[in-house]
Amino acid sequence: MSNNDFLPINGTDYVEFYVGNAKQAAHYYQTAFGFQPLAYAGLETGLKDRSSYALRQGKITFVLTTALTPESPIAEHQKLHGDGIKVIALWVDDARQAWKETTSRGARSYMEPKVNVDENGEVVMSGIHTYGETVHIFVERKNYFGPFLPGFRKWEPDYKPGDTGLKYVDHIVGNVNWGEMNKWVNFYGTVMGFEQLISFDDKDISTDYTALMSKVMSNSNMRIKFPINEPAEGKKKSQIEEYIDFYRGAGAQHVAMATDDIIATIEQLRARGVEFLHVPDTYYDTVMDRVKEIDEDLETLKKLRVLIDRDEEGYLLQLFTKPVEDRPTVFFEIIQRKGAKSFGKGNFKALFEAIELEQESRGTL
Ligand code: FE2
Repeated sequence: MSNNDFLPINGTDYVEFYVGNAKQAAHYYQTAFGFQPLAYAGLETGLKDRSSYALRQGKITFVLTTALTPESPIAEHQKLHGDGIKVIALWVDDARQAWKETTSRGARSYMEPKVNVDENGEVVMSGIHTYGETVHIFVERKNYFGPFLPGFRKWEPDYKPGDTGLKYVDHIVGNVNWGEMNKWVNFYGTVMGFEQLISFDDKDISTDYTALMSKVMSNSNMRIKFPINEPAEGKKKSQIEEYIDFYRGAGAQHVAMATDDIIATIEQLRARGVEFLHVPDTYYDTVMDRVKEIDEDLETLKKLRVLIDRDEEGYLLQLFTKPVEDRPTVFFEIIQRKGAKSFGKGNFKALFEAIELEQESRGTL
C-alpha cells in the first residue's frame, strides 16, 4: 500500500440487497448458492420498519433487507429498482477518516460517522453516495466481537445446506448511463483515490448488435475492483441499456465471486438450480486457439459451459448466471483466477452473443 493512500481499505465488508421478500431470498441464497446463515435483525430484535438476514460464505457477506411498511424508503427503492444492490460496504480501520477524506474530495454524504453499540462492542459506520441510488458504507469493526453488526442477533436455523466453495468478492461492476462512464471513473479516482486498471472500448466489446464501454477502477491493494460500464451504440439495444431501463437508472450489475475449484463449484451450483448463461457449442471449437495450454480438461469445462480467457500473466475461468430476479438486472459471476488479473475481455464477444439470444427471447433487443 502506498504511503499517500488517503483511503486504505481492507476488503469488501458486505453487500446489501434491498429485496421484495428477504425471508424467501435468504432461502434462495442458502439453497442455491450455499451461503450460511449468520445474523438476523427484524421485529424480534426491536426493528419496526425492516427485516435483514445476513449470510456468509468464505469472506463474502450478503445482507438481504426488506421493508415491513409501505412508507419505508426501502419499499420505495424496491418499487423503483426491483430487487437490487443498495450498499457496497467497505471494511476500513477508520470510518470517521474515510468519511472525512471522501466528502472533503466531493463525495455526497449518505451517513455521517455513527457509533453503533451493543453488548458485543462497537462498530463505527459512515457512508457516501455513488452511482444511481447505490451507496458505499465504511465499516470500522476492530472493536466488535458479535456475529455481524450491532442490532443483529445470531441466526441459527436448522436448515443449513453446505457451501459451494465461494471464497471472496473478486469485483463488483456498476452500470452507468450513456456518457457517464468517465464521470464515475473520475469519482473513484478523485474521491476515493482509486486507479484505472484496464481500458477497452466499444471496438473491443461489441457484436453486431450490442456494445459497451468499460473501465476498471481499483484501490491501492487491489482488493477492491470496480469495473464501470456504459452502453455504446450498436445495431440493437445494448445489454447495459436494457439494465438501465429495467433498473430505472445506474446500479450494480454483477458481483463476481471467486472459487479455487470452479469445476466443483459450478457442478454444485447447477445441481442446486442456479441458471447460467448459455454458451454456444461453437465457443469450444476455437477457444483453445486463443488460450493455449490449461490444467483443466476441456470436455469437463464444455460440459459445465465454463468460459476461459488468457492475458499476459495467466488465464482465468469464469461463468455468468442469468439475472437472479424477474427484471433483467442483477446477476453473478463465478471466477477462478490462474494468474490472470484481467476480466475476461476475450470472452465478451462470445458472451454477448449468448446474452443477445436471451434478450431476443425477452423481446428487448
Ligand atoms: Fe465481471
